[in-house]
Amino acid sequence: MTVFEATCTAPVNIAVVKYWGKRDTSLILPTNSSLSVTLSQDQLHSKTTIRASADFTSDRLWLNGIEESIEKNKRLVACLRETRALRAQIEEKDASLPKLASLKIHICSENNFPTAAGLASSASGYACLVYTLSQLFQLPLDASDLSIVARQGSGSACRSLFGGFVAWEMGEKADGSDSKAVQIAPETHWPDLQAMICVVSDEKKGTSSTEGMQLTVKTSALLQHRIKEVVPKRMEEMIAAIRNKDFPKFAELTMQDSNQFHAVCLDTYPPIFYMNDISRAIIRIITEYNKDGVKAAYTFDAGPNAVIYAPEKNMAEIYAVLSHFFPGATFDDSLGLLSKTSTLPPLPQN
Ligand code: DP6
Repeated sequence: MTVFEATCTAPVNIAVVKYWGKRDTSLILPTNSSLSVTLSQDQLHSKTTIRASADFTSDRLWLNGIEESIEKNKRLVACLRETRALRAQIEEKDASLPKLASLKIHICSENNFPTAAGLASSASGYACLVYTLSQLFQLPLDASDLSIVARQGSGSACRSLFGGFVAWEMGEKADGSDSKAVQIAPETHWPDLQAMICVVSDEKKGTSSTEGMQLTVKTSALLQHRIKEVVPKRMEEMIAAIRNKDFPKFAELTMQDSNQFHAVCLDTYPPIFYMNDISRAIIRIITEYNKDGVKAAYTFDAGPNAVIYAPEKNMAEIYAVLSHFFPGATFDDSLGLLSKTSTLPPLPQN
C-alpha cells in the first residue's frame, strides 16, 4: 500500500496585544487586531504527523496518544475541508499528481507541554495541523495564505505560522480573506529579547478562551472601548517599539495590554478570572523590580501562568528575584521554564 506522510512541528506564540472577541464565530474573525511573539521551537512545540492512504477507511485523530473524534470537532473539519479543496484544485489542473484529496487521513499530534493550561496549545496545534496538511498536499501557499486556514482552527493559531514578531490583521471582509497573519520582524531582529514562562498551574483552565471571549463580546462595555479606542493605537505603538527595539516601550505596552485584557474579563458578566493570587503576586514583584527603570514585562493569557519578556542580561536576576519570593520554584533547563505547579508558598506582602 502507498502511504503518503508528512511530519512538522510548530511553535507557541504569546500575544503582547491580545486577541479577545470574535465578530464571526464560525470563520473566527476577531473584533480587534493582535500581535504576538513566537517562542523558540526548541522549548515548546506541537508535532504532527499526517498519513494518507487508500487503505484507510475513515479520518482519525490522536491527540497526545489518545484517539479523539474528528466529526465533533467542527474547527478541525473546517481545516481539513479547506486544505482538501485546495488540493483538489491543483489535482484538477495537473492529472499526473497523486489523488490525495479523496484519501482518508490519520493525524497524530502531540505537545511537549500541558494542553489547555493557558499555554497556547491550540495555537501551535492548529498551526501545526494546517502546515503539515499543506506539506502533505504540496499546497502552493505562503504562510499568510495558510494563516487564513489555521485561523479557522483557532484564532491565535494564525500567528504561529511565522517566527519572530507577528501581527494578526483583523481585516474587514465578511469572508475573512483579509483576516490573516503578517510578520512584523523576523526572529533574528531582536535576539536579545527573551521569554520565560512561569508555570503557576498546569491544570486545565476553567473557562475556555472560546466561551469566555463570546461572553465578553455580549456583556462587556469595556471591550467596546478597548477595540475601538485602545487597540488600533496600541498596535501602531507596539509595531514601532518592536522595530526600534525599544524595550521599555515594548514592556509598558505589553503589561498595559495584559492588564486591560484581564480588566475586560472582570467586566464580563458573570466575571471571568484567569489570574490567581500567585499571578497577581508576580505582577507586584515585577512592578517593584521595574521601579527604577523597566527591566521586565509580564503578560498573562487565559490562565494563571505568567510569561515574562526581558532582555537576556536581566534574566538571571529575574530568576533570582522570583526564586527569592517563591523559594520552592525550580528551573527546568530542558524546557527553559521556571516551573512550579500549584504549591507555591504564601504570597509576599507589600
Ligand atoms: C488570551 O485563539 O485560544 O490567548 O479562536 O476561540 O480558539 P479561539 O481562541 P484562542 O484565544 C487566545 C486568546 C489569548 C490571547 C491571544 O493569544 O491573543
